[in-house]
Amino acid sequence: MARMFALLAFALPAAAPLGLIAAAPSSSAAPAPPATSDSTTELNVLHWWTSASERAAADHVAARMSELGLRWVDGAVAGGGGGPAIKVLNERTLRGMAPKVAQLNGQATIEWAEMGLLLELDGVAKRRQWARTMFPQVMAQLNVREHVVAAPLGIHRINNLYLNKAVFRRLNIELPTHWSGLQSAALALRAAGVTPVAFSDEPWQVATVFETLLLAEAGPALYRRMVEQRDPQAFNDPSVERAFQRLRDWRNLAAGPGERPWTQLVADFAAGRAAMLIMGDWARGELGTLGLEGGRDFACQAVPGTSGVHQFSIDTLAMLAGNYSAQAEQEKMAELLGSATLQLGYNRIKGSVPVRRDVPVDELDYCAQQSYQLFANPATARVPSLVHRMAFDEVGKNAFIETVHRFALDPKQTPAAAQRKLQGLLRALGPKSMKSVQATP
Ligand code: GAL
Repeated sequence: MARMFALLAFALPAAAPLGLIAAAPSSSAAPAPPATSDSTTELNVLHWWTSASERAAADHVAARMSELGLRWVDGAVAGGGGGPAIKVLNERTLRGMAPKVAQLNGQATIEWAEMGLLLELDGVAKRRQWARTMFPQVMAQLNVREHVVAAPLGIHRINNLYLNKAVFRRLNIELPTHWSGLQSAALALRAAGVTPVAFSDEPWQVATVFETLLLAEAGPALYRRMVEQRDPQAFNDPSVERAFQRLRDWRNLAAGPGERPWTQLVADFAAGRAAMLIMGDWARGELGTLGLEGGRDFACQAVPGTSGVHQFSIDTLAMLAGNYSAQAEQEKMAELLGSATLQLGYNRIKGSVPVRRDVPVDELDYCAQQSYQLFANPATARVPSLVHRMAFDEVGKNAFIETVHRFALDPKQTPAAAQRKLQGLLRALGPKSMKSVQATP
């Protein structure tokens, strides 16, 4: 499929000259390494992992690649959640400067595969027995029209509430597990001069918090109808209004308005300047690089109302087909990404958990074990993250983020009005097209 479309309709140049790659509009945190003479072993990788832990996780992959004679040429584009990276990827592809490898998760991967731009990795998947070794939910995200179109890296959990244990201990406040406990803890924290909640007005971060609250209020079955089936009727439910109200309450517990990168929130939380944080578990990876350990230094709990539910996003790297000049190297990289050793090494740094069913779970840290075991349990409700591309296409996801963000920044907008806006948006987006419907196994 990819071969036909790519050759007929959208052929990309063999390999973008390295000079051009370096000049690509990228706010890269790490400069691309200099070119070597052997360009066949180089793979330019576009991604958005620029925080300390993300960088270390990417460097881990790069180091393992170099053992196989492959060179990771870095094309990082800063910006949590990947909005800026996807824009740069679009631009580069339109200008014939597509990278060989790109972080393209979930629905974004489907869109790119449908355009025929991605290399099919069926051979790799078969050779390495991905269908047998990987979680079915992971395989579902990689499959487009019966073809494997990306290599999986890790499973993130989104619905986490982190509590700084040292702060709670010092102030003699019990670790809360329910909303009422959180509210009284917040009052006590404020009285002691500690900001209760680390929060940022950056649009994707606001919407990430909101989707966890929506899950908490709606429960997994209704959340699925909203996010997976995109059923506008489901958005009539009163839980949507409640979720908006919770978002407002949660934001009011923060230091003050302002857009800040998620890494700053993590730094505030780690230093005890803020005591609570709702964030995907890439935050746990970052806390690890700051020397904090889950269970010991901070509690990793589910957002109240979501315990036992795993709201996931899966990081994947897609191989851009181009004219197939790098196919062998791309396949070699894909094989490496799926291997058990790489999975353990990478995910222990990144904060996510392995995509494979056969990794020794005791080699993961306490919080990762919880996430992994929950995800692995067939009885668990596993629900996709909308904000992190597991359910809506890029346009729908961005519109959702914007709607939630506008509500957060406008104190005059009532939760009921925000709910109506969301309903309107869903009606405008229309039902989910069949090609992109991914039933969660
Ligand atoms: C997510 C991505 C994670 C993490 C996070 C913050 O979309 O899946 O790997 O990087 O953004 O940038």
